[in-house]
Amino acid sequence: MTEPRAGGATPSSDEILRVDHLSKTFRTGLLGRRVEAVRDVSFTMRQGQVLGYLGPNGSGKTTSIKCLLGLIQPSAGDISLFGLPSRDPMARARIGYMPEHPYFYDYLKPTEVLDYVGQLFGLDADTRKRRIPMLLERLGLGHAMDRTLRGFSKGMLQRVGIAQSLLNDPDLLIFDEPMSGLDPVGRKELRDLMVELRDEGRSLFLTSHILSDVESVCDSVVILNQGVAIAEGPLDSLLRRDKLFSAATLKVPDEAAISALQQLLSAWPEAGVDQVTEGVMTLRLPSGAVPQLSARAAEVGATLVELHPVRDTLEELFMRKAVTGATAGAEGSDAPDGGGAR
Ligand SMILES: Nc1ncnc2c1ncn2[C@@H]1O[C@H](COP(=O)(O)OP(=O)(O)OP(=O)(O)O)[C@@H](O)[C@H]1O
Ligand SMILES: [Mg+2]
Repeated sequence: MTEPRAGGATPSSDEILRVDHLSKTFRTGLLGRRVEAVRDVSFTMRQGQVLGYLGPNGSGKTTSIKCLLGLIQPSAGDISLFGLPSRDPMARARIGYMPEHPYFYDYLKPTEVLDYVGQLFGLDADTRKRRIPMLLERLGLGHAMDRTLRGFSKGMLQRVGIAQSLLNDPDLLIFDEPMSGLDPVGRKELRDLMVELRDEGRSLFLTSHILSDVESVCDSVVILNQGVAIAEGPLDSLLRRDKLFSAATLKVPDEAAISALQQLLSAWPEAGVDQVTEGVMTLRLPSGAVPQLSARAAEVGATLVELHPVRDTLEELFMRKAVTGATAGAEGSDAPDGGGAR
């Protein structure tokens, strides 16, 4: 892991993952009821990117991953990894995967689990002997290397899962719900680790049903709802619209000043007063209207005490898209450069 990494992206392109019109329909029960788990999802991922693949429970995240890894056959669509068909062993060898519910025999020690996985990857005995203690140390499990997993906490087992995903020094890491079950300290440590892995030049594909969990480490997202990508693209462009708004806090001397400012805001349909308490008024308005606000405030004896851009959260974006039923295609207008996730 701390060794120099020669791998990197496919030389001809920095696109490492391309998903074209992926669909997966399951048939369940005696009557063969159709469950459309993933519906016509398309996106790309570039080398070095951290992609958040987000959505509520049952929205199709794990099903998509299983298709990416060739564990199940898509009903429709194409997937290529490092420019190769996803089933190509050369492509698969460059991936590290941590499943949603990593399961290890609890009578084993972490060194034994990793040794077994290393053998599956075809790592020779010397490499395994060198890399396994190094990885366990890096993941903060040095002290527990020779303890059986039976006594491990959820966070410690999660670290074993991450350690095994790194054994083959992968270029692309796929972590399915990495934050699940971790306490706030564990989450922070895992976020820091993911940033480190990205800084080493690895690409990360992360799923979460808690949108805010991975927001700070992702540079682009695909948001699923009932199998459909309802928003996708670089985070900055997806949330860009909201940077055009500002939130202001003003000290207001009297009712007349409040009415004057309310009247000013009525010129913009998206502007409005959030709260007025004890002579303090908070409001939001288009950023372009800030000069008019400060001029009017001065006229009526109000003082602008705070002003900051409004940034939407992924949760708010999700709610907006889920409610309007907008599709990723419609979202394309938010991301004119088409960079990142497509
Ligand atoms: N093998 C299967 N047979 C039938 N239906 C399935 C199968 N696997 C998944 N599904 C269904 O497909 C849908 C998507 O499931 P999936 O596990 O991909 O969701 P998810 O986004 O990973 O959810 P979570 O956040 O709970 O992990 C669900 O309705 C699920 O019940
Ligand atoms: Mg899942």
